[in-house]
This record gives sequence, C-alpha cells and structure tokens, in this order.
Amino acid sequence: MTKRTPIGVFDSGYGGLTILSEIQKRLPEYDYLYLGDNARAPYGPRSFDVVYEFTLEAVNELFSRGCELVILACNTASAKALRTIQQKDLPSIDPDKRVLGVIRPSTEIIGELSHTNHIGILATEGTVKSESFPIEISKFSPEIVVYQHACPMWVPLIENGRHLSDGGKFFIQEDVKIMMEKDPKIDVIILACTHFPILKEYIETLVPSNVKVVAQGAIIAEKLEEYLSRHSDLEAKCSKNGEFNFLTTENALDFDKNASKFLGYTITSEHVKLG
Ligand code: DGL
Repeated sequence: MTKRTPIGVFDSGYGGLTILSEIQKRLPEYDYLYLGDNARAPYGPRSFDVVYEFTLEAVNELFSRGCELVILACNTASAKALRTIQQKDLPSIDPDKRVLGVIRPSTEIIGELSHTNHIGILATEGTVKSESFPIEISKFSPEIVVYQHACPMWVPLIENGRHLSDGGKFFIQEDVKIMMEKDPKIDVIILACTHFPILKEYIETLVPSNVKVVAQGAIIAEKLEEYLSRHSDLEAKCSKNGEFNFLTTENALDFDKNASKFLGYTITSEHVKLG
C-alpha cells in the first residue's frame, strides 16, 4: 500500500483554515492534515520560547502522522518558531522534511499591491513585536513605509465566535481607526494574522474605498504551488487523493461547529493531545 503523506497545515486555532481553504481551492488534488492548537490559543501574547515549544510539538505530531511538508499557517508561529525549527530542529528530526511559514511569501509580493508605498500591517502582538514584516518587506521592497498595529482582542473574539457582536465590533473599529490614523497615505492593509480574513468584509466597510484589505490565503496558495513545482522530490512524496483531515487539541465537536464557519462546509475532526 502506498504511504499516505498529507501536507500538514498548522495554526494555533481556527485561523489557519483561511489558508487551508485557499490552498485546497488551488491545489485540490493533494491530501491535507490540519492541526489547530485551540486549547492553547491565542499564541499572540505568548513568549518566544513558549510559541516555539508549542509549534515544535505540533510539527512533530504532524510528522509522526506521515507529513513530509508542514505549513505554519500562523504568522505568530512563523515569526517566533519557524527559523529555529528550520535551522536547529529539522536537521536532527529528518533533513528531508520541510516546514514553511506564511510571512516570507506574503512579503515577497507586497511591493506589487500598493500605489502609495505606504502600507499597514494588522497582526497579533507577537508578530508585531518580532518586527518580521518590516524586516522581510525591507528586503524585497525597501521603498515601502510599513506601519504596524497589534490587535490583541481579535483572536480571542474570533476563537469564541464573538467577533461580530457589538462588543467585538467596538474593538475592531477602534483598532482599524488607530491604523488608518497613522498615515492617510496607507492604501493597503495586510491582514497578517490568519484569523483575520474572517473580518475582511467588515473591515472593508471601515476604511476608505481606495484601501485594499489583503488576506494571505490566495498568496500562500500560489506560492505553495510554485514551491512544489520547484521541489519535485518533495512533491512526488505528497499523496494525492483529495482528502483532508482535521485535528484539534480542544473538544472535537466544538471544533467541527466553528470550523464550518471558516470553511463553508461541515467536517469531523479528531481530538489530539500535544506535549
Ligand atoms: N492565527 C495566528 C496568526 O496568524 C495566531 C493567532 C493567535 O493564536 O494569537 O498569527
């Protein structure tokens, strides 16, 4: 029997589903195994060491279930854990396996999106503090002026399904206002947390019509397709039955109910314990 090697997709919770659904649209032939660490979300306010430790546990779990390639569909984990896992852990775990993040692929194309070269980044506290976006953007598009704003309330609101309540909207309005007041020339806002695309339509009602609100999913899907075409050995190892499975560190029934809001279809997940 051929070995099943799904592409692993990891996030602290539900956010990575916004990436997974775009990847599935673009690359439906592959198998995917999603892992949400919902029991320990949010990662945004956690320290570098804790995010690294939790992310490594999740990556090892996905490897133990056959994944050869894992996407950290989480900006916070990409900012705080990716480099260490790639440089320190992978060589001893298995140098043929790969872990990729979502920050670099997003920053590569940012230069194409703005006319004014003034852009805003909305993200978790951890991603903002890491300075990963400004650092990476300056490598590809040094002419771009980057403003960042952390939105620590958004992930807990989304994880609890309260983002469009009156209280939820209050925090979103306030954070978007702070972002836009940083510079009226901002014409692109990157939703640099994979949870935030679920707010995209609402955020669009809060900003001037010339401001593009950009979710990362489609960008990551396109970059993954390019990556797989450049790495044919790894691509050949990925199983292709169009199957997808879901793991959560929280209650599986709760995950199923909430995940369908992100995916637009119903799923059945399995509980997993990490650590
Ligand atoms: N969705 C994640 C991100 O892209 C993490 C959110 C969190 O757990 O704080 O940053």
